[in-house]
Amino acid sequence: MSKSRVTRRQLLVAAAPAVAAVPLAKLALSGDDAHAEHAAQADRVAAEEFADHAMLGHAAMIGDMAPAVGGPNDLDELLYPPEVLPAQPGRLREYELTAFDRDLEIYPGITFAAWTYNGTVPGPIIRATEGDLLRVVFTNAGSHPHTIHFHGIHPANMDGVFEIVDQGGSFTYEFPASPYGFHLYHCHSTPLKKHIHKGLYGAFIIDPPVPRPPAQELVMVMNGYDTDGDGGNNFYSVNGRAFYYAKYPIKVSRSQTVRIYLANLTEFDLINSFHLHGDLFRWYPTGTGDAYEYTDTVMLCQGQRGIIEIDFANTGTFMFHAHQSEFTELGWMAFFEVVD
Ligand code: CU
Ligand code: CU
Repeated sequence: MSKSRVTRRQLLVAAAPAVAAVPLAKLALSGDDAHAEHAAQADRVAAEEFADHAMLGHAAMIGDMAPAVGGPNDLDELLYPPEVLPAQPGRLREYELTAFDRDLEIYPGITFAAWTYNGTVPGPIIRATEGDLLRVVFTNAGSHPHTIHFHGIHPANMDGVFEIVDQGGSFTYEFPASPYGFHLYHCHSTPLKKHIHKGLYGAFIIDPPVPRPPAQELVMVMNGYDTDGDGGNNFYSVNGRAFYYAKYPIKVSRSQTVRIYLANLTEFDLINSFHLHGDLFRWYPTGTGDAYEYTDTVMLCQGQRGIIEIDFANTGTFMFHAHQSEFTELGWMAFFEVVD
């Protein structure tokens, strides 16, 4: 568990240290009597609002204003899925996943003591075409017993619930990839809540036998981080780092559909959501059929996922974010840069 203890207010203040200093200093001098306590409370509220405004400057943060860790291509392997392969029933698709503990800097100066598949949270994108024989060789190099539990259709002994893999052990999952859609995988050791929120999950795409039309394909896994161990999230992200796609807006072309494989793996909070500015999108729940809703906001509980298709009408910079405003301010805020 990380030693960092950061409250939402501290985050806001940390993001605006210079401007927040004055009201916070005033706070420290108050509190001698009830009168002063009252004043202190008023000051506290003012300080929070001040920090809020200072951080956001009344407008959303973008580019260098956004506090995110790392360089512009760090998350490419989690954002861009592997290439789609034409259907060829029985073809072997093989992946290797290794669980190990890793401290991840998820916000500048804040590390999360993660349990990972292959060193990242979320883990690597697994992709197969319906009818492929999927083989996932799993090795546990972590500090606790783990498994991989896949969503989708497979035999009971490939479900990752009873076949617990101890430290140093390994297990090979093998089953025909089915049905087509957007699925996910995660550890199913107990306590489950802990094994999931520590970071053991990832995206699992099964392509239909008749391929989807070409598109600019992206994968987004929504999550949260409890960095102070109190059973509530302190940060939120898409693909693992708070504010990352606010610092590095995702460049897309207006001329081709943008297809997003979107999954929610947030622990503790009952739902998470995705909201797009400036346009609407087609939402295919679980990606298993042709029926869609035309909307600009979807909400998902943990384990829910689906496919978003956007045909941008306009070029320019468009925000997308959780429509829980608090999640937005704690890291789940992002932008598309739509160009011709
Ligand atoms: Cu586990
Ligand atoms: Cu699940």
